[in-house]
Amino acid sequence: MSTHEKSKELYERACRVLSGGVASEFRKFSTPHPLFYSRGEGSRLWDVDGNEYLDFTLSQGPLVLGHSHPEVLAAVAEASQQGQLYAGQHLQELELAEMLQRLIPCAERLRFSLSGSEADHAALRLARAVTGRPRFLRFEGHYHGWFDSVSWSVGGALSDLGPRDEPTPVPWSQGLPADSRHEFLVLPWNDLAMVERVFARHAGELAAVITEPVMCNNGCVPPQPGFLHGLRELCDRHGTLLIFDEVITGFRTALGGAQQHFAITPDLAVFGKAMASGYPISVLAGQERYMRLIAEGKVIHAGTMNSGNPSVAAALKTLTILERDRIPEELRSKGEFLMAGLAEASRRAGQPLLIQGLGPMFHAGFSPLAAVRDYRETLTYDKGAYARFVAGMHARGIRLIGRGLWYVSAAHSQSDLERAISTAHEVLRGM
Ligand SMILES: Cc1ncc(COP(=O)(O)O)c(C=O)c1O
Repeated sequence: MSTHEKSKELYERACRVLSGGVASEFRKFSTPHPLFYSRGEGSRLWDVDGNEYLDFTLSQGPLVLGHSHPEVLAAVAEASQQGQLYAGQHLQELELAEMLQRLIPCAERLRFSLSGSEADHAALRLARAVTGRPRFLRFEGHYHGWFDSVSWSVGGALSDLGPRDEPTPVPWSQGLPADSRHEFLVLPWNDLAMVERVFARHAGELAAVITEPVMCNNGCVPPQPGFLHGLRELCDRHGTLLIFDEVITGFRTALGGAQQHFAITPDLAVFGKAMASGYPISVLAGQERYMRLIAEGKVIHAGTMNSGNPSVAAALKTLTILERDRIPEELRSKGEFLMAGLAEASRRAGQPLLIQGLGPMFHAGFSPLAAVRDYRETLTYDKGAYARFVAGMHARGIRLIGRGLWYVSAAHSQSDLERAISTAHEVLRGM
């Protein structure tokens, strides 16, 4: 029987110094309370009480090669010996940019930042400057970082969302500027007819449509056939930019991201997470005719800490391994195996666990629906039941994200996957 005594003590101490005891909002929602970890290696993570976990959170996605990949650690150590940050260019930064340019379809030009939130912010600023238009179209339940203008309609109860064809923007936080409410038009995802209606009324105002190419932040909802294509066509027709937020899909669905997987090239795209095995780096990638405004200094993008040696070395090594060992294909087959096994386990246990996604990342949740297509339908998930499932898995040494997303890594072995399936069956049967 696992205990979390030391973690509990440290968490109580942390609450006296860190707001909420954590450094990011999403870390608050942990079982049985935010835990303190002391080590990660491969597919495993250990807490300060000595409990071992088979880890499917992968630090919310970045650890695509698992924890502490030795080649990445060696590359980081070597680069760190050469200095940390030059406030100037370096060869590895150039090599990384060239690699990304080769891998990502829309990446004619790039700029590095530290986080997905920052790179999303830069993409929106650039789209406004390119088009001279003030507003954006975004989709309910998508997440594009925590900055002011995008902190609307990330979540919300059905009663707050307003009518489907004209949703009410729902604030995610207090303290947002009142006018940021009008920066975005909001729609449910996956409904092209509604997007067409918005374009018919507002095309001249729309700088960009921003979307996760797979809605990963609520459920893991693939685009309906033709939806992304339809967005591309509408944007082309109306001089609106199409921005793919690939912070989760990037380097997981394919090396070139979901844009390669679905064969749809956006005008701008944002990558982060899986790029550098947990080191802070993100990238804004885009077509030269738009990124030119950054080159000319008309649109400002900056950052003291951008493209530091350790992060760049980690990214270069991570991407080299992903390509060399064909990891995205491996993640797909591992993920599909796990998805099928979990679906079969829930069927045998008589539980309505809906498994949905692409494989490298997927979602599990208790829903009466056969499939979920947009944020409103994700509200059918029984969160209490999933919390009990997560707690049951956790008590048996398997760490999951509370909101249902599962991440698969190159470090997960076949026996890890089989253990996750058999443990899930045991937990589901007992529910
Ligand atoms: C799709 C998407 N965009 C942007 C972000 C923000 O990235 P970061 O947490 O690195 O700021 C996230 C983070 O989860 C994300 O999932």
